[in-house]
Amino acid sequence: MITKGNVFDGFLSGKMYDRLAGIFGFGPSLYKKAAELIVIEQVQVILDLGCGTGSFSAAIVDTANIVGTTGEIHGVDLSKKQLDIAKEKVEAKGVQFVPHLCSMDELPFSSSTFDLVISSLAFHATNPSVRRMTIKETARVLKRNGSFVLVDMTRPKTIFTRLLYLPFSPIVYGESARDNWNNVFPELCENEHLALKTDKFVNSFVRFQQYVKTK
Ligand SMILES: C[S@@+](CC[C@H](N)C(=O)[O-])C[C@H]1O[C@@H](n2cnc3c(N)ncnc32)[C@H](O)[C@@H]1O
Repeated sequence: MITKGNVFDGFLSGKMYDRLAGIFGFGPSLYKKAAELIVIEQVQVILDLGCGTGSFSAAIVDTANIVGTTGEIHGVDLSKKQLDIAKEKVEAKGVQFVPHLCSMDELPFSSSTFDLVISSLAFHATNPSVRRMTIKETARVLKRNGSFVLVDMTRPKTIFTRLLYLPFSPIVYGESARDNWNNVFPELCENEHLALKTDKFVNSFVRFQQYVKTK
C-alpha cells in the first residue's frame, strides 16, 4: 500500500479502469447526475482532485452553464496513465485540461486560484491524514465564494445496501474506510471555512456534497 493512497497504475488504470467502473455502477450516468446537482454560476478555472480518467470533469463540461468559454480544468492524480486518459477525454469536448502528477494534499498552486474544486470517488482511495490535509489545501486554493464539490462513497442509506457494501465498511476494510462511513467531511470542512450547502445521495451509497468557501 502506498502511503498517499491507492494509485491506479498498470492494468487497473486508463481505459480498463473506465470499463470496470461502468460495470460497478460508476459509469457516465452517475457523473452526469452529480454534475447536474452542482449549483453555481459559470466558472473559468476548475481543479479535479484524484481526477483519474476525468469522468467527472467531462460530465461537468457537458453540463450546460458550468464551464465558461475560456474555461480550463486542472487535474491532479498520482497516476500518469490516468492523467493521460483524462486529458484525452476532456479535450475531446473542447476544454483545455492541464495534468499535474502530484498528490492532492500537496497542491502546486497559489492561494485563491480556483472557482471550483471537485473530487469524485478519490477521497476514499487516500489515507486519513491525506484527506485532512487535502481539505486544508482545497480551502487555500479556492477563491472566496468558490465551491468544493465532494462525491464519494458513504454509509449506504438502507440496511440491504449496507450489507452489499460491507466489504468496503470499516468493519471489513478497516480504519481507512471510517471517514467515509461516518461522513466526517462536513465537520472537517467547516473548520476550514467551507460551509455545507448541499448534501444528497447520488445513488444508494454515493453522496454528493457542495461546500462554499465563506472566508
Ligand atoms: C477510484 S479512482 C477515481 C477517479 C476519478 N475521480 C473518477 O471518479 O473516476 C481514484 C483515483 O485517485 C488517485 N489517487 C489516489 N491517491 C491519490 C492522491 N494522494 N493524490 C492524487 N490522486 C490520488 C488514483 O490514482 C485514482 O486515479
